[in-house]
Order: sequence, then structure tokens, then C-alpha cells
Amino acid sequence: MSNVKTRPRYSKSPKESKVILIHESLPEDANAQGNVHGGVVMKLMDAAAGVASRRHCRTNVVTARVDSLEFLSPVYIGDLIIIKAILTYTGRTSMEIKVKVESENMISGKRTPTTSAFFTMVALDENGKPTEVPTVLLNSENEKQLYEAAKMRVSERKKRLIRSSR
Ligand SMILES: CC(C)(COP(=O)(O)OP(=O)(O)OC[C@H]1O[C@@H](n2cnc3c(N)ncnc32)[C@H](O)[C@@H]1OP(=O)(O)O)[C@@H](O)C(=O)NCCC(=O)NCCS
Repeated sequence: MSNVKTRPRYSKSPKESKVILIHESLPEDANAQGNVHGGVVMKLMDAAAGVASRRHCRTNVVTARVDSLEFLSPVYIGDLIIIKAILTYTGRTSMEIKVKVESENMISGKRTPTTSAFFTMVALDENGKPTEVPTVLLNSENEKQLYEAAKMRVSERKKRLIRSSR
């Protein structure tokens, strides 16, 4: 932490980095019964979190942690997978990205919540070391609520990190 390179810090709105990714589920994404593999959805979520965080900090990033991932409903071959990623919080070098996934039946148009998770992404400099990120500019009430909830999760994670390093 002490070696973190400092950069001029400025603020950016989560709207500037928000991502919506749409993937049509194909047979290679699924098992023999037509259920899309969880790993396929997780990879798309990681990709969306990666793009949202890179758009925010404009450096390379890595995924440090994923929290609260659970699958609420199945996705089948032919469904659209709609992934929304939004920045909720910035630390010094880390960012929390909330990723929500819905499936859409292409015939009925019905959308079903599938999963959501919180990704911790860390910005890296050209030497692969954590580097400072722009702070988050909160405009709407919703953005402020997301930030406050994220702040509590980050504080819990830091406590767990300290405990596990003892
Ligand atoms: C993530 C990583 C860069 C952190 O490196 P580090 O030397 O521990 O860096 P630091 O201790 O300075 O932590 C940097 C930031 O990451 C956060 N962080 C580190 N590990 C974390 C974890 N397991 N969970 C949540 N946050 C974490 C720290 O709290 C800190 O945040 P802050 O600057 O906003 O306060 C390093 O552990 C790593 O490279 N991990 C592998 C990442 C990877 O390969 N991911 C999969 C492929 S993308």
C-alpha cells in the first residue's frame, strides 16, 4: 500500500463508465439439457465489470474479489443474457462494480432476474502495481445510496482481509 503511485485525482460520474452487455446464449454455452453454464454468465459479468472499471480509471485492472454471487433462475439456449455493470464506490486504488444480470426470452420478451454480484477491481499502473483511481462523483439519490451501501461492504471486506492476513 505504501508504494502506491499517486496521480492527480479527479471525479467521474458512474454514468460515464456504465456498461450494458448483451449476449445471445448459444448451444456451446450450455449443457445437454439446454441450461447455460454458470461459468459462462460469470465470465460475461467479469468482462462487464472489467470494462466499467477500466472506463472509470483508464488503466489496466484486475479482479481482486467477487461477493454475493448467486444464481436465482436458469438461463436457456436462445435466451438473451443482459448484463448491467455500474460503479458504486472508489477506494484509493480499488473500485466496486455492481453487476446485475437478467435473461430475456426471445419469443415472449419476458425478462427474469438471473444473478447479481459485487466485483472489486484494482487499477494497475504500467508496472502492474496498484495505482490511484479517480474518485466517484455522486449526482443522483440512487448513486448516493449505492455508494453508502458499498462503503459498508468495503469496510467489512477490509476487516476480513486484516483477519485473514494474521
Ligand atoms: C489485487 C492485487 C493487485 C492487490 O495487490 P496488493 O499488493 O494486495 O495491493 P494493496 O494491498 O495495495 O491493495 C490494493 C487495493 O486492493 C484492495 N484489495 C486487495 N485485495 C483485496 C481483496 N482480496 N478483496 C477486496 N479488496 C482487495 C485493497 O483494499 C486496496 O484498496 P484501496 O487502495 O482502494 O484501499 C493483487 O492481489 C493481485 O494481483 N491479485 C490477483 C488478481 C488477478 O489475477 N485476478 C484475476 C484475473 S483478472
